[in-house]
Amino acid sequence: MKVLATRRYPGPAFEELEDVEVQPLSELRSTRPEIEALAVANEPVPLDLLPGLRLVANFGVGYDRLGVDELRSRGVAVTNTPGVLDAATADLAFALILATRRRVVEGDQRVRAGAWSGSWADGLLAEELTGSTLGIIGLGRIGRAVARRAQGFELRVLYTQRTRIDTDLGEYRELDDLLAEADIVSIHAPRTPETTSLLDARRLSLLKDGAVLVNTARGEIVDETALVGELVSGRIRAGLDVYVHEPHVPDELLALPNVVLTPHLGSATRQTREAMTRLMVENITAFERGEPLITPIPD
Ligand code: DGY
Repeated sequence: MKVLATRRYPGPAFEELEDVEVQPLSELRSTRPEIEALAVANEPVPLDLLPGLRLVANFGVGYDRLGVDELRSRGVAVTNTPGVLDAATADLAFALILATRRRVVEGDQRVRAGAWSGSWADGLLAEELTGSTLGIIGLGRIGRAVARRAQGFELRVLYTQRTRIDTDLGEYRELDDLLAEADIVSIHAPRTPETTSLLDARRLSLLKDGAVLVNTARGEIVDETALVGELVSGRIRAGLDVYVHEPHVPDELLALPNVVLTPHLGSATRQTREAMTRLMVENITAFERGEPLITPIPD
């Protein structure tokens, strides 16, 4: 089976693909009817150029940019890589929580600029993390991994979720109540029509003064223009790993001291990215052998 991969995906599993061509989709110039499987990282699939496609194997858990409805209507199977990136993403959420809450990047910049003078006793004062309240939006696999880490920091955990679940990882709140009560809010929901602009201007205004918003999920879940407004005003702080028009980051954010910005690093550890490649390749080989897909995307 001829596979087109949009890049050389990391790790040894990629070498197990027998008939693979590596080419970014942006460089496809003509119709390629011989391609039956596409290994892709949540990019729009050009079905007009790939009329023979039977499988899209997504590198990543989120598949919001693939065009899944159209793929399904054309009978193309779609897989993703859930589970293997939970720990890495939860770790990054905590890195952003700590960096934002404790003003780590501001401190780093002060040192590098040679602007550190005087006594440590006059240093950048931050708000304590231990003992504060963390609100988790979406208590799925990654949200639960964040909640477990929160126990180590003695955080009080609130969560909101589409369907209320029975858990001792935190207390359930309606979204508006969670936003008004939490000191730190971390987003762990997939992007769907229901979650797009879930945190609109009204909801962002519910955040407490000085609250921290962390987004390692998808930029589109937050109204980015309203978020920029809140951050420019200095009312809240944020740790952002995802944006609406990646790799573009709104210019207004670049010079703000109350924002920590990372370039979509949630799953970016060697171990996790190699595990993602393995799961993607296992889905491709299962499909090739006519076996059940390991992680087809849910209906
Ligand atoms: C995913 O898997 O959807 C992530 O965004 C990659 O880090």
